[in-house]
Amino acid sequence: MLTTRRRAIGTLGSGLLLSTAHGQNTNAPETVAGIPVNYDEARVGTYTLPDPLTLANGQPVRDAQTWYRKRRPETVHLFEENQFGRSPGRPPGMSFDVFEKGTPALDGTAIRRQVTIYFSKDKTGPKVDLLLYLPAGTHKPVPLLLNIRFSANSTAVDDSGIKPGEIWGRDRKKIPAPKSSHFPKLNVAPFLARGIGIATAYYGDIEPDFDGELVYGVRSLYLKPGETAFALDEWGAIAAWAWGLSRIMDYFETDASVDPKRVAVLGVSRLGKTVLWAGAHDTRFALVIASCSGEGGAALSRRNYGETIKHLTAPSRFAYQFCANYRKYADHVNQLPVDGHMLIALMAPRPVLLQTGDTDRWSDPKGEFLAAAAAGPVYHFLGKQGLDTDKMPAAGQPILHDIGYYMHSGGHGTIPSDWDQFLKFMNLHLKTA
Ligand code: GCU
Repeated sequence: MLTTRRRAIGTLGSGLLLSTAHGQNTNAPETVAGIPVNYDEARVGTYTLPDPLTLANGQPVRDAQTWYRKRRPETVHLFEENQFGRSPGRPPGMSFDVFEKGTPALDGTAIRRQVTIYFSKDKTGPKVDLLLYLPAGTHKPVPLLLNIRFSANSTAVDDSGIKPGEIWGRDRKKIPAPKSSHFPKLNVAPFLARGIGIATAYYGDIEPDFDGELVYGVRSLYLKPGETAFALDEWGAIAAWAWGLSRIMDYFETDASVDPKRVAVLGVSRLGKTVLWAGAHDTRFALVIASCSGEGGAALSRRNYGETIKHLTAPSRFAYQFCANYRKYADHVNQLPVDGHMLIALMAPRPVLLQTGDTDRWSDPKGEFLAAAAAGPVYHFLGKQGLDTDKMPAAGQPILHDIGYYMHSGGHGTIPSDWDQFLKFMNLHLKTA
């Protein structure tokens, strides 16, 4: 099992390092878990996407009320049952410890606040540390970008006042976070300058990212005595990380400095899948930015290009991130009742931005574009603007409508210039300063 974890982190690390390699590596392995990978458009095959605006009983969705009352909940349920798994609601014993109320930080541009969110009455159990920077000198609730990350809060920003965090080390034990991390730092300054707060949390605080992890993370609180696995339609790790984001949102609703109606959420890669599911499931998130979410995220699963469900759920890879039912579709993708376009459509009418990279072929940037285009009818139906084109834009050409798409020139992950688009998208849609 340990080897599984090392492999997982190794893949992740190298994947994200490509972001700095900027186009030098195409992130296109030829076989993964012994399964060949297709990168030939001529061999993608044909497919028919499920219609997001047709109910499971075959009736068309004719008005917004039917979307909100029937088709939307039905679609959420289909994703729960077949892809991410059902998760519980807010736990009754949860509490917030605002252990740092507000300290001037970052050369006086910010107020730093730190909070521990305990998921149960037992304070030795799973908990998440939240780090928040609020723009200095603002007296009204601010819009905020919440970034769920692969590294401890203490390595996210150059600030010695951050509580030293812990990360998962070898042997499935938490160890003190190293002083630095190869994951890019948070680009806080331009957001603060526009009156936007920034918050971050380490995904491993919520649930570790390795197979067989049930006893370590938040899901352990929900295992019944003697149970060692969840049912086929119960939560995998992505749903647990998304659940943690909702608990952070519960905290924001109690923080007078934050406008809970203008909280955006950002994640990269498997955390791009996570933020899409968080936004689909919890409509309190006002805006989602999903970076390179790929297969199991925004990319169309029915398109046989780059990673497929079969690669993703191979036992040596990331099956544990999804509900067990998802594996059924490894060889039967056309039977999956949902696809990436429907995950995007669940954000409607709220804005969603997909950021991809032109050499990140493994994550299929075109599959994400096609999914975004196919989610357009739901946005139009609700009076919002989809991509409004079926021509995929070149790298560096953003579309920042209610559905946004931006492909940088380069590989997997985010690069510094992506942050300019994130800020622009938030300014446009959350009407920030
Ligand atoms: C692997 C995995 C992807 C995932 C990525 C990541 O490459 O196959 O589906 O998005 O890891 O999280 O970095």
